This record gives sequence, structure tokens and C-alpha cells, in this order.
Amino acid sequence: METTNDNPQFSASRRTFLAGSMAVTTIGFGMPAFAAMRAPATDPFIERLLKRMTIEEKAGQLTMNGALGIGRLVNPTTGPEPALQTTLDQIAQGRLTGLFNADDVKLGRTMQQIAVEKSRLGIPLIFAADIIHGLKTAFPVPLGESASFDAGLCERTARATAIEATAFGVQWTFAPAVDIARDQRWGRVVEGAGEDPWLGCRIAEARVRGFQGADLRANDSLLACPKHFAGYGAVQGGMDYNTADIPETTLREVHLPPFKASFDAGALTTMASFNDTGGVPSTGNHHLLTDILRGEWAFRGLVVSDFNSEKELVDHGYAADEADAVLKAVTAGCDMSIQGGLYLKHIPALVQSGRLKMAVVDEAVRRVLRVKKALGLFENPYRSLDPARMGTDIRRPEAVALAREAGRKSIVLLKNERNVLPLPKSGKALALIGPFVTDRNNALGPWMVFPDMKSAVTFEQGVRDALGAGAALAVVPGCGIERPLHGGIDAAVAAARAADVVVLYVGEATNMSGEGASRADITIPKPQVDLIDAVAAVGKPMVILLKHGRALELPNSVKNAQAIVCTWFLGSESGNAIADVLFGDHAPQGRLPVSFPRRAGQEPFYYNHRSTGRPSLVEGPPVGARYREVSTSALYPFGHGLGYSTVAYGATEIGRPRIRMGESLSVKARITNTGTAKHHEVAQLYIRIRVAEIVQPIRALKGIRHVDLEPGASADVEFTLTAQDLAYVHADTRTRTDPGAFEVVIAPNSAAGTPIPFLLAAA
Ligand code: BGC
Repeated sequence: METTNDNPQFSASRRTFLAGSMAVTTIGFGMPAFAAMRAPATDPFIERLLKRMTIEEKAGQLTMNGALGIGRLVNPTTGPEPALQTTLDQIAQGRLTGLFNADDVKLGRTMQQIAVEKSRLGIPLIFAADIIHGLKTAFPVPLGESASFDAGLCERTARATAIEATAFGVQWTFAPAVDIARDQRWGRVVEGAGEDPWLGCRIAEARVRGFQGADLRANDSLLACPKHFAGYGAVQGGMDYNTADIPETTLREVHLPPFKASFDAGALTTMASFNDTGGVPSTGNHHLLTDILRGEWAFRGLVVSDFNSEKELVDHGYAADEADAVLKAVTAGCDMSIQGGLYLKHIPALVQSGRLKMAVVDEAVRRVLRVKKALGLFENPYRSLDPARMGTDIRRPEAVALAREAGRKSIVLLKNERNVLPLPKSGKALALIGPFVTDRNNALGPWMVFPDMKSAVTFEQGVRDALGAGAALAVVPGCGIERPLHGGIDAAVAAARAADVVVLYVGEATNMSGEGASRADITIPKPQVDLIDAVAAVGKPMVILLKHGRALELPNSVKNAQAIVCTWFLGSESGNAIADVLFGDHAPQGRLPVSFPRRAGQEPFYYNHRSTGRPSLVEGPPVGARYREVSTSALYPFGHGLGYSTVAYGATEIGRPRIRMGESLSVKARITNTGTAKHHEVAQLYIRIRVAEIVQPIRALKGIRHVDLEPGASADVEFTLTAQDLAYVHADTRTRTDPGAFEVVIAPNSAAGTPIPFLLAAA
């Protein structure tokens, strides 16, 4: 039996503890990224450069253009396209810091050559892109991958992504998204790690480490950009771009920690979010971008605007016009503008008129140059611009194998009545029904900027490969994603009648989640529900595979199915990964990173909420905080996920009922595989702070442990709780631990187990 843990604090053994803390040490102090952050405030090389720069060149260093639509280098017959020629001229004049979402490494190299050889000061460009969950090898969407509860896996897929992206000419990714999302209506839930800050921190730092690798100057190191700073996940009503009202304590307790964890892991950039918080849009938010980021956290990297977000200060009603917007954004601490070109357009005049201090501009330029230097661009401007790597480093077999591994580890089994899963590979007639069975277009998921659609393995293909030729398989779409198909339901019902087991693959299309894709109804589209209802009425054992970028409200026919499986958007190897789990070659091991509500009207809905003064009793009389129509509990809680065996948790045991400040507490529980199959358990440690000056969550995750158990085997999982784990953000916005009463439990999910009390006394 092997136990591992992503958090060094909670390691099962000294060996894993050392490995964990060494990883932190290497990343924290050994790599250039961190060295750059600790570099003296004035770097003579950068100061010399700064002295020679004109205000236009400075504004240029703060300006990045989007490259999509620019087109390829030169069409030999028609010559360069105008947009491209303008860009090349801008580069030659030293008026552009780089491009994002360019898709041509050769063109990138040519541009770099112009920047280095033709521009007056030869400052290299930087190439960025939204490489969110893979470049050509698509890994599961970040939310799906987070369901692995395995930060190590997230680090490995980020590393593989970095190798591909840098082979494609990308040096900086606008990722990871580390927004904590507690409202499933928000389409961008799919981009992050879900609703829990602790898990969000572990996954954020892992992704940063994976993207950046051990040496930021290496050809295959991809600069990370944790985003969107900050509070973007708290947009009201889950509507993308909406306003957010976040008390300072909640901001610091819930939304900021994954950013801090990312910076501690070496991230040198961040992106200002589109939303306002309490009326102050992030791009112009001095408190966020300067007081907290640079003041409290001593962050020495750069802040980039989000796609035109400085211009949006005008639309928000926060700035009078474009120039005012630029003034407010730069002064707040937003160093670089992407897409709109407003910094280049307005900074020179703003400085000349005295409205914007040159010192503020200089500081922004310093930050940009420092990051370029940390990436090694001044010594090696052609790093990650080697077209030869396109042939060797894209879709490497090991990356594709990793996509399959990540795919299956992201799958969450919600329900498995009478062990309908795993399915036998022979002897049963299967009907594969639903709009996603043969679909390739929705396999990868949102945010693939340069998708390789044809590489996606469909579900049908995955099943056929698993079963071999001659398998008894009926394949029927039944309906489209959002529309009925003529005769579709009849054909599906006929197939179900002839089958022993029905597998229905239903859910959301790619464009139903992601940016600008919020939903008021987080449901399966009606034509699909009609299909499921009709097939369910046939009465055959039914397995529901869900495709989704968020937790969904499930219709009764899905809830009543024998098995329900979350498959998110699993990426290139989607069909293979699902087949691996469906036929039992690998048991499911994912856990929900978001709570499934019973009804959409419960949103925002998350396990780690505060207690009201009238806590609702799930089965009690209707006196507590509750809705008339529905229980306040989750349909499937955060952390839930089954395997193909059964497990039993013994009582949580603590070393002592009372500890003193400065001491640690050992917490353990015995877990037993009570079934007949191998099992991978993800034990979860939750605490509750019983009394606090800011009411605390009824439960908060503080540790996870992965345990493999043979049938009949038991293991003791043990965590060490320290005062730091019991700290919270106080009314004065400082984080500290108070003596007092606490509860702790080791449980298979956020709603299970019986917490036990302990006391923390002053030192
Ligand atoms: C998104 C960012 C993204 C940027 C650049 C914006 O619309 O909000 O997440 O990085 O575009 O493509």
C-alpha cells in the first residue's frame, strides 16, 4: 500500500515529506524565476536600457497585440497582409512588447529578428498565448482534471503542455486560471479548480511549477500567468463579466490564496480580471494591484490587462475616456495592455501633459523588462522559437499517453447501483445512445486556441478499440445537442429494447461553458432530456455519461439511472479514457471539485459555506434556512466519488483532545476496502473553527491523501494538523490562529463522517 500526498505538511511518510518540501525548496529558491523576484530593485542592465528609451518605446514595452487574424508571414503572390505589415513596422520601431495567440513559429522568429536586429534598442519580444489545457495534445479541461484531486498529475500535464507550447513558439501562457468558483452558472468554472480554496492552492501551484519547469530560462519553460486577479469567480448571478461584491475578509480567505500560492511557486505575472469588486474594476484597482500585490506580497512580476480591459474602464463608468482609462490602469499597477493598443496611443501624451508621472511608467517598464530577463530573452531571444521542435515535440507519444491517464483519473463515478459498472467486455449487447457518442467536436472542451480536432478519440472509437472487432454494439444519436432529430427517439428506444445495457452520453456542448458562456439553467438541454426519459422508460440498466463544464442540475431520469459518470471534457484521449473506466481496465478515482446542487436555484452553492443562525436540518421541521421546494443538501457533495469497490471509514481519532499553540495534532482514521475490487481512495481532512470573530465555514478542506487498497486491506491515514491550518482571516484582514474550539474529521467527502472536537489553548 502506498500513501502519497500533495501537501508536504500532510505527508504520510518522512520520505514523501522530504520529497514535498524539497520540491518547494527547489522551486522557491533555486530557479531564476524566484531569483528574479528577489533581484535588487534596480538592475543596472535594466536601468541603462530604461535611460535610453523614448516614451514611445516605453509605451511600446507595455503594449501587446493579439495575433489571431494577422495571418501568416508573407504570401509570396500577394505580399504581406496590411495588418501583418503594420505589426512588423511597429516591431521595427520598438513599439510592441510582443504578441499573443500567434500560430506561426517561423513568423515569430522573423518578428524576433526584426525586434532584436532592426529596432533601435533591440529589446526582444515575448510571445504569449492562451494555452489552457494543452496545445495539440488536449488534456482534460482544468475543472475536470482537478477532479483527480491529484496536484502531481496537474503538474505533469502542465509540463507536457509547456513542452508543446514552447515548440510552437509560445513563451508565456495566460494560465492557470485560479479563480475560485462557487456558482455553477458561471461558464468559466470550467477553467479553474472548482469551489475549494485549499484544493485551488495546491492545483494552482502545481500548474505553475509544471508550466515553468525547473529553469525559467530553458527552451521548454513556459511563463505562467495565474488569472484573473481577482474575485472573478464571484461575479453576481454567475454571469460572466458581471459585478462582484466581495467583503475584504472573503476576498482574502477564498479568492486570493490561489494567487499567493502561485506566486510563491514562482509565477511572475498575473492578469487583471474583467469584473469590478465593490465598484472598482480590477484593471484600475490600486488596492488589489498595488497595495496587496506589491505592498503586502512583495510581488515583483508584472500585471497584464485582460483583453482590452483598460478600455472597459470607460464602459464600467470608472474612467471618462480612453486616456483617463489608461491613466487609471497604469497608476493602479496594471503594467501591460493586451489587445487594445491604448497604452501606446495614450501614455506618451499623458506623460507629456504631466497627468501621468514618468516614474510610474518607468516602474511598469522595469517589471516587463525584468520578466523578459528572467526568461532569458536578452541572452537568447530565439528561445522557444525553433521551428524544428514542431516536428519532435508536438503530440509526443508520452504526452498522448499522459492525456489518457489524466482523462481516466478525471472521471468521477457518482452512482453505481447494483454494480452495473464496470461493464463486461463480452456477453452483453450494448446500445450507445446520445449526441456525443460519435461526436469529435466536443471532445476537447473550451479554450483550445489551436485545437487539433481530428486527433480527438470519439467515445464510439474508444469502445470499439476496447471491445475489438465484432462487438455487439448499437450506436444511435437519438437527438442533436440542442434539437430533436426526426425519428431519433424511436430509433434510440428500439436500440435500447434490443440491448442488455444502455449507455447514454449526454450533456453540454463545448460552447456552453467557458468565457461568455454563463447559463441561467445549468441543465441538460431539453431534447436530450426527452431522449433520456424515453430510453429510461424502456427499463434496461442505464449508464449515464455526462459531458459538462460545470456541476449540473440533473433530471429525474438521470438521477434514477443505475450509474452516473462525470466525464467533463476529457481532451484528445476522451473516448479511450472513458472506455478504460467503463470496462474496468481502470477503476474510477476522481472526486468532485464542485458540489452538484439538487436544483439550479440553490446556486451559488458550495460545501464550505458559513453557518446561518438557523442551520437547516436536512430532515427536520421547516424552521431553518432552506427553500420550500428542495433540501439544502447537495445531490452529490464536493469530494464525492466512488470506485468499483466499497470502503469503510473508521472513526476519526486524534492524538489528544487539547493542544497548545505551537503544538501539532495527529489525526488519523482507518480505511478498509470492504469490497472485492482494488480501490483507490482519496481521504479528505476537514476542519471547522467553532467560534470566530468572522463566522467560519461549516467545513474546510485541509488535506488529502491518496491510498491504494487491495480487497480486504486496511490502511491508517494520518494527518498532522498545525496552528497554521487553524488560522483564518480576521476582521482586521490579518490571518492568525485564535485559541478555542475546533472540529476535525477524515471523510470520503465533504458531507460524510462525524467530526470530533478538540481544543487549542494559548501557548
Ligand atoms: C480572457 C482571458 C484571456 C484573454 C486573452 C480574455 O477574453 O478573459 O482569460 O487570457 O482573453 O485571450
